[in-house]
Amino acid sequence: MTPWRFVFVADMQPGSPRSFRYNPSWRENWREARRQILELEPDLLLVGGDLTRDGSLHRFELEEMKADLDALPFPVHVIAGNMDTGNKHTRVAGTFRGPGQCSDIELNVTSEQLQQFAAVFGPLWWTFEHKGIRFSGLADGVVNSGLPEEAAFWNWAEKQLKGAPPAGHHIWMMHSPPFLDRPDEPSWDIRDPAQYRNWYFSVDQPGRARLLNLFRSTQATRVLCGHVHLFHAVEAEGIRYVIGPATSFVQWVGRWPDARAELGFLLFEVHEQDLREIYVPLRRVHQIPGYGPGGHPSPDHRDYSLAWEPSSLSKRQGENRL
Ligand SMILES: [Fe+2]
Repeated sequence: MTPWRFVFVADMQPGSPRSFRYNPSWRENWREARRQILELEPDLLLVGGDLTRDGSLHRFELEEMKADLDALPFPVHVIAGNMDTGNKHTRVAGTFRGPGQCSDIELNVTSEQLQQFAAVFGPLWWTFEHKGIRFSGLADGVVNSGLPEEAAFWNWAEKQLKGAPPAGHHIWMMHSPPFLDRPDEPSWDIRDPAQYRNWYFSVDQPGRARLLNLFRSTQATRVLCGHVHLFHAVEAEGIRYVIGPATSFVQWVGRWPDARAELGFLLFEVHEQDLREIYVPLRRVHQIPGYGPGGHPSPDHRDYSLAWEPSSLSKRQGENRL
């Protein structure tokens, strides 16, 4: 066979100067990654979520990124991340969020946000085969949500269990890692500040066990994730669980001593007997001052008068879009 390539990129979140916050570095870093990906001439590009900074609030950020990705000369397959839709569900508020931030319950992903993403990017879960490799992806925010979209997802997943045997490799893609260290680690406690980030960056039971069963049953060989903004991988039950690096910014440095805390993306080279995973660092990382708050600011902390470019969004309209 002729060797071929595909790329996995995640957490670009370029943001917009029409928003209540903007970090031009993140946009320039994505431009840098995009140029490097184009030079690699992959067969296809996989995007592991958080392709917008506030797509959950601003449809225009989703539409801008859709146009940007559609202009690439190869197919692009996208899943939603929490910044594109909303966060994983909780019925209990955590203690981690500071003043001016939404509570965790307010950040729960909604049907409206999921449908907005689907209206721009298409189905929230999908599977296809390319040159002997099966690729499948899901918007994992639905897991444990109880939303109608969760029932629809598991219904679709059941059909995958009964489907045709996968190709030589089956690569799944989701935004959040299903677990951080071990498949059987506990659901982390959102109320314990020492566990909050573990909670935020993983999937709770019972949905996690159901997902892992789906991966095993469909003979997954790799699960590609983003969300954490580090490059780190764990082997479990014959499956390689990979957290890919971000292009926007690095976070949670020190969580794993062997994690790579640099910006970049993953290149995969497919050979006859081999699937090579290659970390590609950004050639240049930009440092340009921006404006606005970090985290998940509450509506009264979203000041659209700060925006560098005019838009129809007033502060009041921004509040109404939560
Ligand atoms: Fe994320």
